[in-house]
Amino acid sequence: MKIALLRRLSSAAAFGSLLMLSIPAFGAESTTGQPVTFSKDIAPIFQAKCQDCHRKGTAAPMSLITWEEARPWARSIKERVVTRNMPPWHIDTNVGIREFQNDASLSAEQAGKIVKWVDSGAPQGDPKDMPVAKTWSNDDEWQMARKLGAPDMVIKSSAYTMPANSQDQWWKPLADIPVTEPRWVRAVEIRPGTVAGRKITHHALAHLVQDNDPDAQKYSDAPGGARSPNEAGTLMEWAIGKSYDEYREGTGKLLLPGSHIWWDIHYHAVGETIRDHVELGIWLYPKGQEPKHRTYLVGFQSVSREGARLDIPPNSVVMQDGYNVLKSAARLENFQPHMHLRGKAMSMEAILPDGSTQMISNVDRFDFNWMTNYIYTDESAPVLPKGTIVHIKTWFDNTASKKGNPDADQWVGWGDRTVDEMAHAWVNVTYLTDDEYNQWAATHKKTTTTSRRGGN
Ligand code: HEC
Repeated sequence: MKIALLRRLSSAAAFGSLLMLSIPAFGAESTTGQPVTFSKDIAPIFQAKCQDCHRKGTAAPMSLITWEEARPWARSIKERVVTRNMPPWHIDTNVGIREFQNDASLSAEQAGKIVKWVDSGAPQGDPKDMPVAKTWSNDDEWQMARKLGAPDMVIKSSAYTMPANSQDQWWKPLADIPVTEPRWVRAVEIRPGTVAGRKITHHALAHLVQDNDPDAQKYSDAPGGARSPNEAGTLMEWAIGKSYDEYREGTGKLLLPGSHIWWDIHYHAVGETIRDHVELGIWLYPKGQEPKHRTYLVGFQSVSREGARLDIPPNSVVMQDGYNVLKSAARLENFQPHMHLRGKAMSMEAILPDGSTQMISNVDRFDFNWMTNYIYTDESAPVLPKGTIVHIKTWFDNTASKKGNPDADQWVGWGDRTVDEMAHAWVNVTYLTDDEYNQWAATHKKTTTTSRRGGN
């Protein structure tokens, strides 16, 4: 563990030498004796793992559809693939849970082929070997629509005009949710209303406000839970790079008649005046279908809540940790670290009532531009007993070698602005009764002791 840690904290120079080491290793893995060509080997990988973002008209800097388009980027592609910066899947695959519903990573074999292709001069090969081109849906489409069709309702915030130059702004309008009877939510997706709006929208929280919620107490009891008595928790958090939340079978969020969305949208000036709003797509369970459990979006803190102290001196790397006690047994559905520009890594570990610990997940290459949500599978989602402490550890890198650090000579503390820092993990938590936990434990004993502990 110590060695792994040191590596993570290594300077740019040391990192460079690690890079050199890993290239031949990748290459060796894919040695098949056959030349690796774009048409035969690389195009299918790009189709599967890159083109969703890398095609004309998207936010990505270049298209990776044809050889002509990809060829000039070969060096950069190799660098991003070897450093695991692209695709944006920045979780440490050597520890903790390894199965994710939305895994976007390259397999070692795919990464190896890309490296070998670049190292051998990025050849095109025979165009006849090209796979059938993929057709892409309109970029304006909701991502969840590919799976569930159009959303049942779209709720928009009122628009806000962000001046070209300004301090960060927080826009907090209320919006009605048009339900006339209790309805269960199956999936949600948030997006800035326009492509221009993506540049200024740092995050958007959709809090759910409803009177007479029978479970209101539970929301305010959850670590990082509701702040007002009629706030039924947060429906969804969105930040740059995140897309949707789909609740696991048998779980969901409940909308009551008279509900409102209380938006909390953080805008960041980018040198041009932009007016935009944010949209929330909601997919409902069919009428009459009631999931057994309500899921609560919890912000597990990585600092002590009182005073939220965070002290990041200039030119330093700092580690910070926070402890969140589960008041009942629970299943953690996902892991989504939230930090700002100096965020380097965040891990989530369970300290069990018997004193043992389990590493759940560790994002070791956090990148502010990619607030990726790592969603566990039905089988891999960790189920923890009452009294478990969810330990969130965060590393900040305020040195000049941290990519995107605006000024390593600044002291940085806690704050809402993009240039301040914060540290918490957004996790959808499904609380279980002790009976449900015991039932789960009886059928999962083996996996908890072998694979989970093994991951530590
Ligand atoms: C979820 C969307 C997404 C996916 C998937 C994705 N990229 Fe990217 N990529 C981006 C965006 C946006 C940028 C620009 C911002 C950044 O660098 O993070 C980028 C940047 C890059 C760059 C840097 C270009 C430069 O400026 O030098 C390379 C290289 C790259 N991607 C390669 C890939 C490859 C190869 C894959 C697939 C194996 C891939 N990307 C998958 C969205 C994506």
